[in-house]
Amino acid sequence: MTMLNIGRPTRPEAVDGAAGAHDTLTGGRGLLQDEALIFELDGWDKTGVDLPAAPPADDLGDLVRTAPIGLPGLSEPEAVRHYVRLSQKNHAIDLALYPLGSCTMKHNPRLNEKMARLPGFSDIHPLQPQSTVQGALELMDRLAHWLKTLTGMPAVALTPKAGAHGELCGLLAIRAAHEAAGQGHRKTVLAPTSAHGTNPATAAFVGYTVVEIAQTADGRVDLADLEAKLGDHVAAIMVTNPNTCGLFERDVVEIARLTHAAGAYFYCDGANFNAIVGRVRPGDLGVDAMHINLHKTFSTPHGGGGPGAGPVVLSAALAPFAPTPWIVHGENGYALIEQPEGEARAAFGRMCAFHGQMGMYVRAYAYMLSHGADGLRQVAEDAVLNANYLKARLSDLMSPAFPEGPCMHEALFDDAWLEGTGVTTLDFAKAMIDEGFHPMTMYFPLVVHGAMLIEPTETESKQELDRFVVALRALAGAAKAGEVERFKGAPFHAPLRRLDETLAARKPKLRWRPVADAPLAAE
Ligand SMILES: Cc1ncc(COP(=O)(O)O)c(C=O)c1O
Repeated sequence: MTMLNIGRPTRPEAVDGAAGAHDTLTGGRGLLQDEALIFELDGWDKTGVDLPAAPPADDLGDLVRTAPIGLPGLSEPEAVRHYVRLSQKNHAIDLALYPLGSCTMKHNPRLNEKMARLPGFSDIHPLQPQSTVQGALELMDRLAHWLKTLTGMPAVALTPKAGAHGELCGLLAIRAAHEAAGQGHRKTVLAPTSAHGTNPATAAFVGYTVVEIAQTADGRVDLADLEAKLGDHVAAIMVTNPNTCGLFERDVVEIARLTHAAGAYFYCDGANFNAIVGRVRPGDLGVDAMHINLHKTFSTPHGGGGPGAGPVVLSAALAPFAPTPWIVHGENGYALIEQPEGEARAAFGRMCAFHGQMGMYVRAYAYMLSHGADGLRQVAEDAVLNANYLKARLSDLMSPAFPEGPCMHEALFDDAWLEGTGVTTLDFAKAMIDEGFHPMTMYFPLVVHGAMLIEPTETESKQELDRFVVALRALAGAAKAGEVERFKGAPFHAPLRRLDETLAARKPKLRWRPVADAPLAAE
């Protein structure tokens, strides 16, 4: 069995649940280095750097600090070791396959990182005069050009910071377009039962009522149900394509036609664009707005909520309602403007204070240039091939949720094959950690019982896929052979054992509190 060799063992009392573990850490006495926060390593009176003596502070009066600020006092090696230890507690795409479905956890090419660190991109400030950042503006314009070309859409808003933020941008543009056309009474958004949670959440945030569209037995939008629910009250539909079951919505053109005939807009959730990039242009399918998660299709890093980028491409009908600023190119080069002269655009405002995430723009553009149009097409083909390879190699042991035909970029299994074994999807996923793999996406989409959504991406070789298949087949065999104990307590070889996920979600402890005798006056 492949074991995950990460970190040293933790104290048993630190494994009851995320919140409980944190309590143990903040006990502050005799902490193993593995468990301590950086504030708890060493004292406050040390520093890893030589700072010049502080200038006299006579003019600060009462504001002069009287108590230590409480910054961790570590030397450079101590600080480096702390963070390296932390990094080893985690699983990363740089360690092994990370088959988290719907997330497209592909390799982040190092070339992207090199480009993003070029001083002309990394050392600039959003308030710098535009004449001094012409290269950066040109890159944004070229990135916009690639995104428009790949999607077949005439406009793009670069600034949204993630997929969900892109959804917000798209729906705000749709709302603005309806209001401008005297259609502000349209207050309903339709979304399939398999939609990602951000779709209904975003629609509700914008003030819409969400109505579900039923799904057919083969995992697609039920056209009859869609038609029955469309009407003068519907502002938009939100449909993911390929959908969250890993299937192409083969009636997508008809979906667009019905939607437009009812006077509504078609928002496409483009989270799964990786499966079709270079092969299908959503604009040709009748899509009006679609976000593109640069951290999925275009290989920028997935950050814990940021910094990210989720540009939104817009149809001609929605283009005038794109958020500001707009990039234009004229006699004096590139410029970011709020209102084009002589044009009746009616932007609803900005999605963020400045111009979006430059570092992500550079990485995505580097990825596009290094692949070229043919390379991007191959990305989609290989992503789909890899997912179908996994589906084919696992379908005799595990039950595919939609056995008929090929899948797109992710293979979806349900938990019917686990029936009677005493092992659940969660147990199976946790046991995968002991095999050195990140679990697949579990229990999503909600329409599939005990869903296991596996997305290998195109960046995995056949050898790595085979390693994964061997591990999963061994686990599946063990589950069917009744080796329940191998699953129930899993993971056994990770830095932390099974956590109480409900406690962690419901009562997270997100704030560090100093131990009682630390020389800090207040929290
Ligand atoms: C189908 C789908 N839609 C929307 C999102 C939201 O994207 P983001 O996490 O970039 O906000 C995701 C994220 O995984 C997704 O899978």
